[in-house]
Amino acid sequence: MKILRTVRELRDFTEAMHAENKSIGLVPTMGALHTGHASLVKRSVSENDATVVSLFVNPTQFNNPADLATYPRTEEADFALLESVGATAVFAPSVEEVYPEEEKNTPVHTFDLGQVAEVMEGAMRPGHFQGVAQIVSKLLRLSTPTRAYFGEKDFQQIAVIRRMIATEGIEVEIVSCPIVREADGLALSSRNVRLTPAQRRTAPGIHAALAKGVELSREMPLQQVHDAVVADINALPECEVEYFEIVDGITLQPVSSLEDSSYVVGCITVYCGDVRLIDNICFRK
Ligand code: PAF
Repeated sequence: MKILRTVRELRDFTEAMHAENKSIGLVPTMGALHTGHASLVKRSVSENDATVVSLFVNPTQFNNPADLATYPRTEEADFALLESVGATAVFAPSVEEVYPEEEKNTPVHTFDLGQVAEVMEGAMRPGHFQGVAQIVSKLLRLSTPTRAYFGEKDFQQIAVIRRMIATEGIEVEIVSCPIVREADGLALSSRNVRLTPAQRRTAPGIHAALAKGVELSREMPLQQVHDAVVADINALPECEVEYFEIVDGITLQPVSSLEDSSYVVGCITVYCGDVRLIDNICFRK
């Protein structure tokens, strides 16, 4: 596996791949890799001639400096995992390499992300999706992949990225991959390592409450389902729901009944102590 630290090295690598007519899969990550990331890489390896994994903790998408400061960084272990699942190259640049000083003088580009970026995470984390669009558009332009792979745990992020590539005119196939869960139901996340043992025992209750919500939605109105899910999770020690919204899976606008849309998803964010966990579940598809 090649380790690429500079934009020049990345460009040379992708140009060589294109010269040989090879397809490239890009898996953008912020490192602290786990089995969920490994599943994205394996999928890319199975569908492309070469797979590039980017490993970059993007400062511009963190609206909370404490979250950026405590974000786990495990580069050596990440490289070993990527090697074991067959990645062709890893792009692991410095912040200065991605955002050079010279760029500070170019006008700030505001992405047109539409309504999908305004609700839920967009409302709670001002500027977050602009930062995600900034780094993902940069990575797509630099690596010119055939396909790019994203996990459905960040359900809204995928909708925002689809919108971004449409408005920016970037040609790439976005491949969304299912959430990977621990045996007890907790969605895999780089943030899980920050849970205390007690919080780790409690956190699977989030998925359990969502799954119960799907069952309840067969027999009661969605507003009552919503309230039951929130009450169940808030009753867990150290857990507090930040938001839970049951939305149309394409527009991400709230629905009041399952009949309102053929694709309905419940998206949730929960503080477990000071660890912010996100998850979602499909109510109808
Ligand atoms: O989902 C993530 O890990 C990040 O938001 C991404 C897509 C790698 C951009 O920094």
